[in-house]
Amino acid sequence: MSEKDDLYGKEKEHLERKLRMIDERDRMLIKDRSSDLSVVEEVFDKSTLLTLHYLMNSGVLRSLNGVVSSGKEARVYWGERVDGSSVAVKIYLTVTAEFKRRWPYIIGDPRFENIKRSSSNLIIIWAQKEYRNLLTAYESRIPVPKPLAVRRNILVMDFIGHYGKPAPLLNEVEVKQSDYKKIIFLIDKLYNSANLVHADLSEYNIFKHEKRLILFDFGSAVDIRHPLSKEFLIRDINNINRFFIKRGLSVEPVEDLLKKVIKS
Ligand SMILES: Nc1ncnc2c1ncn2[C@@H]1O[C@H](COP(=O)(O)OP(=O)(O)O)[C@@H](O)[C@H]1O
Ligand SMILES: [Mg+2]
Repeated sequence: MSEKDDLYGKEKEHLERKLRMIDERDRMLIKDRSSDLSVVEEVFDKSTLLTLHYLMNSGVLRSLNGVVSSGKEARVYWGERVDGSSVAVKIYLTVTAEFKRRWPYIIGDPRFENIKRSSSNLIIIWAQKEYRNLLTAYESRIPVPKPLAVRRNILVMDFIGHYGKPAPLLNEVEVKQSDYKKIIFLIDKLYNSANLVHADLSEYNIFKHEKRLILFDFGSAVDIRHPLSKEFLIRDINNINRFFIKRGLSVEPVEDLLKKVIKS
């Protein structure tokens, strides 16, 4: 075994021990989780373990607590920073067939012109893209989780919620007419101040936290110069309109909103 392999082995062992402890704690917290008791080694590949270790060593992350969400492509964990503040750690893990259909959200975006189209790259590009989109939105003063770090397939951002429990999503709360207005205002601001279209906007990617609306899940967001940005914008508006209609509230026609948002 080379010195490098040995070092790698030790790092991996250390991290696996830590992660096993997290799993153990989860097991104690939630007794009936038989379907979710897979050992962490099966969840994370070597490169992800090393990336996590790097984030811990570089002071970005102190601990990784329980799983908050296991989606098809990404898992979101509740973690803590050295100062004790809560963070969300989003780890992209698998490239599903569905995920591969996301190339159109990358190709055509002038910010990603020189990207090599290989699937091993896709989750890494996607994590970088989400980070970059969040940062642009954050700097334009749009309410989003503040992005803190990104490395390979792992994105660290502010945790929205309390004690590891994420804030409710828009579909889980009562909504008012004023919420509709606010969301339309945010779509407009995202377009005109951050030059972005969310492209996956719905009641499932908006938090309502302490009366504030916070947009998240920005992996799909594209620059407004993307050739499909208008189509994505129409879809976002339609999703929001559909949701508010379902809740018995009134909405503005998509054509009117488009004219308002796309001024030229
Ligand atoms: N910044 C965050 N703070 C707290 N919880 C989060 C955060 N980001 C994501 N989550 C939780 O993880 C879930 C999935 O996150 P999301 O970014 O929508 O991933 P997916 O791509 O799987 O849809 C959310 O519904 C929410 O419960
Ligand atoms: Mg989502």
